[in-house]
Amino acid sequence: MEPQKVVITEDLQQTLAEAVGACGADRLFILVDETTAQLCLPVVEGFDCLKDAHCIVIGATDTHKTLDSVVHVWEELGRMGATRHTLLINIGGGMVTDLGGFAASTFKRGINYINIPTTLLSMVDASVGGKTGINFRGLKNEIGVFNNAQTVILDTQFLKTLDHENILSGYAEMLKHGLISNEKMWAELVNFQFAALAAQLPVLSRMLADSVAVKQRIVTEDPTEQGIRKALNLGHTVGHAFESFALSRKPILHGYAVAYGLVSELYLSAVKTGFPTDKMHLTVSFIKENYGKMTITCDDYPALFDLMTHDKKNVGNSINFTLLGGIGDIRINQTATREEIYEALDFYREC
Ligand SMILES: NC(=O)c1ccc[n+]([C@@H]2O[C@H](COP(=O)([O-])OP(=O)(O)OC[C@H]3O[C@@H](n4cnc5c(N)ncnc54)[C@H](O)[C@@H]3O)[C@@H](O)[C@H]2O)c1
Ligand SMILES: [Zn+2]
Repeated sequence: MEPQKVVITEDLQQTLAEAVGACGADRLFILVDETTAQLCLPVVEGFDCLKDAHCIVIGATDTHKTLDSVVHVWEELGRMGATRHTLLINIGGGMVTDLGGFAASTFKRGINYINIPTTLLSMVDASVGGKTGINFRGLKNEIGVFNNAQTVILDTQFLKTLDHENILSGYAEMLKHGLISNEKMWAELVNFQFAALAAQLPVLSRMLADSVAVKQRIVTEDPTEQGIRKALNLGHTVGHAFESFALSRKPILHGYAVAYGLVSELYLSAVKTGFPTDKMHLTVSFIKENYGKMTITCDDYPALFDLMTHDKKNVGNSINFTLLGGIGDIRINQTATREEIYEALDFYREC
């Protein structure tokens, strides 16, 4: 598969004009959520290339990643005369890029779309790689298709309005990208100081470019997750269980759940595939310091285990993990027993 076009820009107007020009569209639509309508849309509002664009607004956050919102997008496209040659530009976090990508991929059997991600998580992960979709009947990303955006445009100026929790949420995926890549990337990530973030934005931008290149390389090699794309699931088997479990208490952001999942899965990696314990401890300390902890007790283990057995990534009855033999030494299709998983949860509680 052709690598997806990802452009990191400091001149959004010019980059977007080129991307729009390359599509040769008859009509332009912009999709935003209620928050990005206020905080991000003003950045592009005066752009010449968007002067005839029609704006569609949906509710913000994952509670609006629904079929109702998709229907709203389809209706607006239809009402304003969109054709097969129309272009949709998604400006928002992963919710907007996932949902907009899905709406575009299905409208009249598929129209072009461009992603302009505005959260760190969507820049480094969600907007790249062609996975689009929505939540359905309480299940996350249950309905969707693989279909690449025509172009993904990254501009870190959008991060200036993003709160610290959402920065950290995206950063967890960067940490994962470092762990599955090489020592240099990993070391830079676990030594990053969030205290003076404003001054550090240029550094973060460069790290983000390295990080998105990791995702791009992996999804180009394995677009539909038959093999190596599973590397991106590191931290996500336990992480998704934490994320779903938290819904019944106090919901947590996806990246926080991934960070907590990384703690348990690095422990499993140390026990089962020989991941060095000094690097495990360094990574775990960084996570504890920046992400804190979600309180769980041993009484919660059966529920967490049960959630892991329902993970989409499983085949048959065994729980599928991606583990590491070292930094960059990826071991996909690993499994673990109930006992081993409980031990990994003990480690999470006690570390
Ligand atoms: N397709 C994929 O491969 C993939 C990968 C990871 C996650 N995802 C999906 O991404 C979604 C999570 O992404 P997210 O964390 O970006 O969530 P999100 O899109 O819900 O954004 C989080 C919040 O930040 C707001 N926001 C967006 N940009 C902002 C900005 N620049 N300044 C201030 N606020 C801003 C949003 O309006 C929202 O309230 C989930 O739906 C998840 O399933 C998809
Ligand atoms: Zn993730």
